[in-house]
Amino acid sequence: MNLEQVLATLRPMTRADLDTVVAVEISAYGHPWTRGNFADSLASGYLCEALPDCAADSGEAPSFAGRAPSGAICAYFVAMPGVDELHLLNITVAPAAQGQGLGRALMQVVQARCCQLGLAQLLLEVRESNHRARSLYQRLGFAQVGVRRGYYPARLGREDAVVMRLAVTPSEADSRLADPSTSMPEPQAAPSQRGTAP
Ligand SMILES: CC(C)(COP(=O)(O)OP(=O)(O)OC[C@H]1O[C@@H](n2cnc3c(N)ncnc32)[C@H](O)[C@@H]1OP(=O)(O)O)[C@@H](O)C(=O)NCCC(=O)NCCS
Repeated sequence: MNLEQVLATLRPMTRADLDTVVAVEISAYGHPWTRGNFADSLASGYLCEALPDCAADSGEAPSFAGRAPSGAICAYFVAMPGVDELHLLNITVAPAAQGQGLGRALMQVVQARCCQLGLAQLLLEVRESNHRARSLYQRLGFAQVGVRRGYYPARLGREDAVVMRLAVTPSEADSRLADPSTSMPEPQAAPSQRGTAP
């Protein structure tokens, strides 16, 4: 699925998606977000978008999620608008769908949403040990701007979070990605301490 297909398929996440989203979340993380984390994000009006698993819905093989029934989701993100920044709280691709370009495409959509909301920067936290995600963010132009000591729970104690930032400016690519049908939340107050991806 290329960027254009992702854009055509991505849709707002709803409460009806939560069972599927939580199942993907549990499969993707050692310390997953809870159903309550997603429900709170929806209730708070955060930007929550989900990518349906088209292969599962159409009966085509192979399905990204493998085990996925109709209505399956293969990727999603949650982002919190602030005064001047969009704070990416969670971005996940189902394990069976990873390594096929979806993560990069979703990150491009997140950048475009940031721009559409008139926000100047994109912020995220990532586990220090998550080299795959960190290198993806670096290749997209993110720079490390800090470290939060012991931010995440870990198998043996706690793990640091690397804080990364990308300055976002309007560009031709952003207008190409613009999707007026996507509902945008109003910018919220200051970010919470939840952080990107548990
Ligand atoms: C991190 C994640 C979102 C990336 O999504 P993805 O769909 O797997 O990534 P992509 O296929 O778009 O690949 C992104 C880059 O990683 C590289 N990559 C792919 N598979 C890889 C692997 N097994 N090891 C290292 N790099 C890999 C790709 O070459 C690509 O590089 P490029 O951008 O220079 O082309 C996804 O792996 C994921 O959900 N992981 C678990 C949850 C997580 O860690 N989320 C992020 C928390 S901050």
